[in-house]
Amino acid sequence: MEKPKLTIEEMATFCKRKGFVYPNSEIYGGIAGFYDFGHLGVELKNNIKKEWWKTFVQQRDDVVGIDGSIVANPMVWKASGHVDGFTDVLVDCRKCGSRFRGDQLIEDKLKIKTHGMSLEEISRILKEKKLKCLKCGSELGEPKRFNLMFTTNVGPVQTSSSIAYLRPETAQIIFANFKLVQENARLKLPFGIAQIGKAFRNEISPRDFLFRMREFEQMEIEYFVHPEKQDECHFLDEVLDYELNVLSAEMQKSNKKMEKITIKQCLNKKIIKTRWHAYWLALMHRWFVELGASPEHFRIRQHVKDELSHYALDTWDLEYEFPFGWKELQGLSNRTDFDLKQHMEHSKTDLSIFDEETKKKIIPHVICEPSQGIERAFLVFMFDAYNYDKSRDNVVLKLHPKLAPIKVGVFPLVSNKADVVNKARVVYDELKKEWPCTFDLSGSIGRRYSRADETGIYATVTIDFESLEDESVTIRARDTTEQIRVKTKDLREIISKFLNGEKLGKLGKIVE
Ligand code: GAP
Repeated sequence: MEKPKLTIEEMATFCKRKGFVYPNSEIYGGIAGFYDFGHLGVELKNNIKKEWWKTFVQQRDDVVGIDGSIVANPMVWKASGHVDGFTDVLVDCRKCGSRFRGDQLIEDKLKIKTHGMSLEEISRILKEKKLKCLKCGSELGEPKRFNLMFTTNVGPVQTSSSIAYLRPETAQIIFANFKLVQENARLKLPFGIAQIGKAFRNEISPRDFLFRMREFEQMEIEYFVHPEKQDECHFLDEVLDYELNVLSAEMQKSNKKMEKITIKQCLNKKIIKTRWHAYWLALMHRWFVELGASPEHFRIRQHVKDELSHYALDTWDLEYEFPFGWKELQGLSNRTDFDLKQHMEHSKTDLSIFDEETKKKIIPHVICEPSQGIERAFLVFMFDAYNYDKSRDNVVLKLHPKLAPIKVGVFPLVSNKADVVNKARVVYDELKKEWPCTFDLSGSIGRRYSRADETGIYATVTIDFESLEDESVTIRARDTTEQIRVKTKDLREIISKFLNGEKLGKLGKIVE
């Protein structure tokens, strides 16, 4: 089995060819930073969201979910700091008008880290190093700050007061609803509020396929704790021995390599400052690994001081080794009480909660905000699942059965025998009541197996001449090509066990 590294462009091509992801409105030339999900992509994306919601909302007693709207009162974004500060440095070409992100130009061309650089510094470096337009080689103009929020107008008359923004993150809708959710769900600290939904950012240079888009989705949790009990994490034991690759701010400063250590060591050595932060980092890492991603492709990296957002006391990114380097997959920030305080001040609403113990009002702290882009998770699962199998001479997309867009393929061995085809249809009609299935009778059976492998179909059921005589069918495993023969009446139960992780050999005798 060989696993050559795919480039991001090759992954985009594969996703398009197989019906996972299409460039948006391609028949009109497309539009940069926008993508559509095809018949398989939508299933994979929904499965990712379903698994996340199940793990972090439904299976927890301390987290509830909401689903807020995309457009909010613009004051939300004034209070959060986005109106004044959610900017990147834009620089355009004086000749061809191409636009670039100043910091990215410096990082890409000069390999200099630009974390926290001011507009003036970026401008100085661009001039000193005489960086030119990447498209036509001409001189670049004066860099300026560019706000990434998309604007729209609410109502029939367009005035300055009708301007609203498409949300650039889902987080603020959680803060704006904090009091209602806390009261109505009768939440007691510590607790979390989660949300999955669209976010929009007018990125200056969207790139790397789904990695940097202008319209994407986020899965976010704001986890609130008592301000005086910030280090009391009663779930910590669950993750103390969990091991991951770690790169702290200190290690980056002294040019050290990442180290594989446990959460316990991270806390004992004070690499991670609070237990809750350590807990959530381990949980999010584990979520990916339990869904089939390779732990070796992940690390947690702490933001260096200059890199921290205005609201963050401490931030760790869960990073993945993409073909274009280690990059942020998920951000986990300690946002303190910054957001609730900002919204209290701007809305003149009391968002504090009553502490029964001290009989005092308190403003909870967000000790950790795990913030995950769904499309980046989508990429990670696709990269880790993609395998080229030399002996089969086709791609095998080894997605975890919980994520596989289609669980079962049903194939009549031959397409020109009505009895066999009809029997296969009966089997298919039965199975599709339970799982997403596909029925395929075109081409040779070998070709159909290859097609199934390439789109990650976890099991294929074949109906042949023997099936007509003894009511039995074969089940083939995507990952091993092993097959067992089972009675049709047991098929549902056996497939259910197989999808839940049982080995095929345990469910029946392997046949040639
Ligand atoms: N509420 C905090 C927040 O939004 P962020 O680091 O700006 O923090 C969180 O974004 C996550 O959202 C990122 O780790 C990434 O997974 C995803 N994300 C951000 N910008 C994105 C973009 N332009 N395209 C795709 N995903 C993006």
